Formats: sequence, structure tokens, C-alpha cells
Amino acid sequence: MVSDRIHTVTPSYTINISMKVSEMKQQGKNLIDLSIGEPDFNIPEISKKEAIKALNHNKTKYDKVQGLLELRKAIVKKLKNENNLSYKVENIVVSNGAKQAISNTLMALLNPGDEVLVPKPYWVSYPEMIKLVGSIPVFVDTSRTGYKITSELLKSYVTPRTKILFLTNPSNPSGLVYSYEQLMEIGSFCVENNIYILSDEIYERICFNEIFTSMASISNAIKDKTITINGFSKSFAMTGLRIGYSISNTEIAKAISTVQGHFTSHPSTISQWAAAASLNECSNAPDIMKKEYKKRRDTAVSILNTIPQLKYLYPEGAFYIFMDISAYKKNMKYQGSFSSAFCNNLLNKALIAAVPGIAFGMDDFIRISYACSEKVLSEGLNRMSAYIRSLIE
Ligand SMILES: Cc1ncc(COP(=O)(O)O)c(C=O)c1O
Repeated sequence: MVSDRIHTVTPSYTINISMKVSEMKQQGKNLIDLSIGEPDFNIPEISKKEAIKALNHNKTKYDKVQGLLELRKAIVKKLKNENNLSYKVENIVVSNGAKQAISNTLMALLNPGDEVLVPKPYWVSYPEMIKLVGSIPVFVDTSRTGYKITSELLKSYVTPRTKILFLTNPSNPSGLVYSYEQLMEIGSFCVENNIYILSDEIYERICFNEIFTSMASISNAIKDKTITINGFSKSFAMTGLRIGYSISNTEIAKAISTVQGHFTSHPSTISQWAAAASLNECSNAPDIMKKEYKKRRDTAVSILNTIPQLKYLYPEGAFYIFMDISAYKKNMKYQGSFSSAFCNNLLNKALIAAVPGIAFGMDDFIRISYACSEKVLSEGLNRMSAYIRSLIE
């Protein structure tokens, strides 16, 4: 009955985990959820007030497909001040979360059979979104290059059908951040090879050491090839309000707007007013959250360092830790996916929810999130430590 397209798509691992977690919580189990990809902060008070004001003033009618002019102006200002990027409102399309900004972009740029480079580990939805538009995800193995891509590595994956490279910076799930030099090398390679760059920068404000560089800010040639994806879910904890946006050259922005115009029109005007207030009046809110994430990151790392044989990628940004659990393979009986079996055991035996690395294309890993209080985080990791010790003893 359903389309052939749907048969190519894998249901979301993270949504499956959330369902199991809520089932176990309902059964009264004392579960610690480290699987969450959502900030545990509330949206800024000023943004809330602006949303309420918008409702009270009946700002509830259809508006521009590309998004409220006031919000796009605020984004233009943000790009100038924070990213040294000069754009006009015509370059921006505001969508229902970064997710829709990405799917709009794919729909606007890709033809069936086009290839898209997806570095591993990848964010769960990328491959499925690419397949849904009839294109082909080509996975780039980064395990020999420190879990980051380089131009040298990309060379062996490029074919005449390569159209887009996905880049997530800072990365979910690895927590790694690309430096200016690394981005310049990758960006120049893409320009030389006529490849568009979809630069997902949704975690840009959660970057601990490296100064964040927006790919498009490196040169005009790179800027012309880059579609930057950003949003309010992570930096302003506005997940449920569903506001994201794409920034691209005028021709691509027009195409993205055409796609969005037919599928959904603009996102909720109430959410857009709240987002404009976040940018205009609370631009320091992300820094307050970042300080908290950094403390948690340090707490987490200090516990992880005491777990025997555990390796992990040192988190430089976002709020995740990607751990290499391959050392414990020999201590566990499992069939099929190792990381899924490991996470199932963690859930059932230690009452901790984590996401299996297979969801991100890497079955020797698991991902935990530190978007939770330090107390919960410490208890969860201590339980994990006890579980791992019981496994190897
Ligand atoms: C890398 C990345 N891109 C995009 C998104 C989607 O964000 P939004 O809530 O704005 O749709 C997420 C959400 O987890 C993400 O981790």
C-alpha cells in the first residue's frame, strides 16, 4: 500500500528509544535518560512574552513563505555580528525547525540518482532524508582521519554524480569542532569539484574551545556553494517552537522557498515572533547555557576517565559524548548490532538510556547526552561504570 520510497527508509532509532524510555518510566522504573538530544533549559522569558504578545495582538494570519521580515532582518544582523557574514533577507528561508530547512534544501537541489557525501558518524536523519528525495547517500569513513573529513579523504568518494557534501559543525554525535584551516581546505576542495556544502551549524553556540567559524564566511567562492542550516532548538532551547532556517545564494533560496511554499508555507508566526525576540533581545542566553554544558562536560569526562578500557572522542562542542565501546565486545554475547545490544543491556540492567552508535553509522560506539543536570549525569555515568566493570570482571 505505501510507496516504494518508504520501504527504503529506516525508522528513527532515537524515537524508538524515547518510546522505550517513556514505557519504562510509566512502569515506575528509576531510569536515567542520557539519550536526549534536547536542551533541559527553558526558552528565554522575553521570547515567551513576545509569543504571548503576538497572540494577543492577533498576529496570527498567513505571512511570507520565507518567514517574517522582522525575523529575517534579525537573522541578517546576527550573521553580520556573530559570523562576519553579509547576507540580505532574500537569502534566508525560515522553516519548521532545521529539519525542514535541510529537507527543503535537498528537494531544491537534488535529482534522483545524485550522490550526497555523508561523513560518518552522521546525524540520524541525513541518510533517510537523502533517500526520501530519491538520491544516494555515500558514507565517508573518517575512522582513520580522527573522525573528521579532509580534502584528501573526500577525493576517493567523489564521482561525477556527487552534488552535495554534508558537514555538521559542531558535530552531533561526535562533539568534534572543525578549525578555520580545516574548513578552508574542505571548502576549497568543494569549490574546485563543484560540490555544494550543506553546513549544519545548529550547535554553533555550544563550542567550548575552538572559535566557531561558519563555513560560508571563509571566502566568497565557498559562500556561493554553501547552504548554511541553523535554528533555535539548541542555542535558545526552543525545540517545540520549531524554528530553523537556511541561508544560501539567491537562486537556491528562491528554490527552497518554492518547495516550502507548496508543502507547508511559513512556520507558526507566534514561534517566529518568539525567535526574533531571542535574537534581538537575548543574544547572550546561549552563552549562559554553554557555561553550564561545559561544567557538565568536564564532570562527565572526569568520570569516563575512570572507566577501564573506555575510549571516547573528547567533546569540543554540542552536548554529546561519543564513546568507543569496542573493547567490551569480547565480554558480551550478542546477535546483530553490537551497539544496540549494549544499549539494551544498559537500559534493562543498569536503567540508563543511551543511543547505539549504529544510529549514526558506527556500531562500535554509543552516544550519551549531557543535556541533563550534573546530578543526573553523574549518577547515570556511575551506573554505567558499574555495569561495564561487572561486564569485564
Ligand atoms: C545536527 C542536527 N541537525 C538538525 C537537527 C534538527 O533540529 P530542529 O529541532 O531545528 O529541527 C538536530 C536535532 O537534533 C541536529 O542534531
